Amino acid sequence: MITEAPAFKISPVKESRVGQLDPDKIVFGTLFTDHMLVADCVNGEWQTPEILPYGSIAYDPAIASLHYGQSIFEGMKAFKNVDGDVVMFRPEENFKRFNISAERMCMPSVPEEIFLGGLRELLNLDRNWVPDGDDNSLYLRPFMFASDVYLGVRPSLNYRFMIIMSPAGQYYAEPPKVKVETEFIRAAEGGVGYAKCAGNYAASLYPAKLAQEQGYTQLLWTDAKTHSRFEESGTMNVFFVKDGKILTPKTSSTILKGITRDSLLQIAKSLDIEVSEQDVYVKDIIDGIASGSVSEVFGAGTAVVVSPFSAVGFEGNDYVLPEITESSVSSKLKNALNDIRKGKTEDRFGWVYKV
Ligand code: COI
Repeated sequence: MITEAPAFKISPVKESRVGQLDPDKIVFGTLFTDHMLVADCVNGEWQTPEILPYGSIAYDPAIASLHYGQSIFEGMKAFKNVDGDVVMFRPEENFKRFNISAERMCMPSVPEEIFLGGLRELLNLDRNWVPDGDDNSLYLRPFMFASDVYLGVRPSLNYRFMIIMSPAGQYYAEPPKVKVETEFIRAAEGGVGYAKCAGNYAASLYPAKLAQEQGYTQLLWTDAKTHSRFEESGTMNVFFVKDGKILTPKTSSTILKGITRDSLLQIAKSLDIEVSEQDVYVKDIIDGIASGSVSEVFGAGTAVVVSPFSAVGFEGNDYVLPEITESSVSSKLKNALNDIRKGKTEDRFGWVYKV
């Protein structure tokens, strides 16, 4: 349940910049709404959250997050539904996951009133920024970083929690071509793979850059010990359709517990599509694409929603997937998810929260 917000200190903008938003020309993560939320945690005590005009923040160059990476975030979305209401999708799940990441990174829990109450306050102020359009949404980015001015290595005593918001359209212009990564790893057991911490994304950049130089869009990560099992892809969870059945790696300490992933699994079951959370072996999938038994491979995440891949590269060969049609499993799941979020079908799962 979303509880009442604490007393926020609100300093609204004098003039909105919403005229800069063109729903037909949205580039992910480049334009930000009028307001942002700031809340400081000082020696374990949360201070009154403030909502301010979006803008730069000044910090001492010695703050701990810049040096040792105590920094986490969430990615979530708000939509405009068919009745013109602004809705958030499963916000409580992001709130829970944020605090799981916080615990792993030795950071304080953010209270529900600040995280969810803050989102509600911000969305109320900036509701005109939620773009129209089937593939459009407002991407919500809560994040927290260590703010102690101290170069010793220990958990910070002070933190800043913030929320910024940015109109989003389709993430990938073309279906990504992904490379099976068998040298570098994203996460190992006992590490931080399940946390949405900044360092996970930094560590992925170099292997992804090498793959991009070889003509791929993204990576398909494999397990750290044997490189024989799939884990995730880029910033997404990954799904495979084999003989009409959906396979996806089960979540673990090395895999992010995706909220889109969970939503798709529940939708698939409701559509009587068989699903299995299991070990998914690289060899089985490569053989399956070659023989035709694997018909789809797709990523799922907040930013990408559902993103079918065009081909999988493995050991120097590209295994091309059939083109996606409206009857493909990924299309059915994506449409069902979008219809719930946009209020085109009944929200039988109770996922949609009206702001
Ligand atoms: C999300 O889907 O919210 C992500 O985490 C992707 C983001 C890093 C662009």
